[in-house]
Amino acid sequence: MALFDPAVLGAKPSGLRRERMESSPRYRNGRFHNTEPLADPMSGQPLGRRLSIVGEFFFERGRRTPGGVVPVESPLAAWSRPAETGLRATWLGHSTVLLELDGMRVLTDPVWGERVSPFEWTGPRRFHRAPVDIRDLPELDAVIVSHDHYDHLDYPSVRELARRGVPFITSLGVGAHLEAWGVEPGRITELDWWEETTLLGGRLGITATPSRHFSGRGNSSNRTAWSSFVVRSDRHRVFFSGDTGLTNELADIGTRLGRFDLVMLEVGAFHPAWGSIHLGPENALVALRMLGGGPLLPVHWATFDLGLHPWEEPAERLLQSASREQLVMPRVGVAVEPSRVERVEPWWREVGSREPSRIRSAGLFAADATRTGATDLV
Ligand SMILES: [Fe+2]
Repeated sequence: MALFDPAVLGAKPSGLRRERMESSPRYRNGRFHNTEPLADPMSGQPLGRRLSIVGEFFFERGRRTPGGVVPVESPLAAWSRPAETGLRATWLGHSTVLLELDGMRVLTDPVWGERVSPFEWTGPRRFHRAPVDIRDLPELDAVIVSHDHYDHLDYPSVRELARRGVPFITSLGVGAHLEAWGVEPGRITELDWWEETTLLGGRLGITATPSRHFSGRGNSSNRTAWSSFVVRSDRHRVFFSGDTGLTNELADIGTRLGRFDLVMLEVGAFHPAWGSIHLGPENALVALRMLGGGPLLPVHWATFDLGLHPWEEPAERLLQSASREQLVMPRVGVAVEPSRVERVEPWWREVGSREPSRIRSAGLFAADATRTGATDLV
């Protein structure tokens, strides 16, 4: 095993791809910018609180790990039958979801890799196996990649999917990575916010929409863009948050492109000080209201340790905080039709989190963890 394969870092955008980036209103001085700037996660925090965040990050690792085996089911039997309502979603772990809209299939942020890290030997390792081998996925009509962080843009997964000749839809600049990893240039569509591409004779529409986040795979950040996405067929509309903090632009998305039959929002890797880069469970409910509502499928939790919270906390807090919202919270790998989901089975309680222990973090290279501010201090 090589200690480090520089190919995982991807490639720098050039030529026409770079020109398109530079013409984006969000690109200035060599970097992409949020509409609402990020809050410094450490600013305004007293020194004692800052040190406590650093301590949580490096030492209190036990509860961030599942206490038992995370149950995973195979979706293959369900996928062999058409969705009765026309809309079905299968959460495959973290932010990877297979969406089926009226017979068309869209895969979001495919991550089958063992670690979300530039290294094969360190960095956050998956807590559960993928529910299906990537080679056993059915025929796909599009793959969406929201941004280039390791837990959303996964080198081995892209290499495998590139062989299928499937179209990739992504944010400005991210196509350079995809092309370097074997995706045919003609199969890559980069969208700036509010741009739509259509496939299958217009039956499938995918629009890049705003998000409030950041990007980067190496030591430079924000050289490529980040987005949320709206996927639509004639009969159904789905929102996928990618990674985002709260932003007023979520209300614009709801107004312009709602109403949604399914809303997939990130709920994990949160911290009270990180509200501008990740939602977390309570802000996910705020975001859902801003988007105009709809059945909520929480993603971006359970598979990797990228935050400071106990493993099951995103799900548990979402369930406790929700009132009238329709939550769609299947086990990993279970295909669900959102309009048929009537109640939540809190399956994560069977697993729980491991008792606290003071193990030095191996997650130093987690793409999102580097943004905690904790690593700025060590
Ligand atoms: Fe991210």
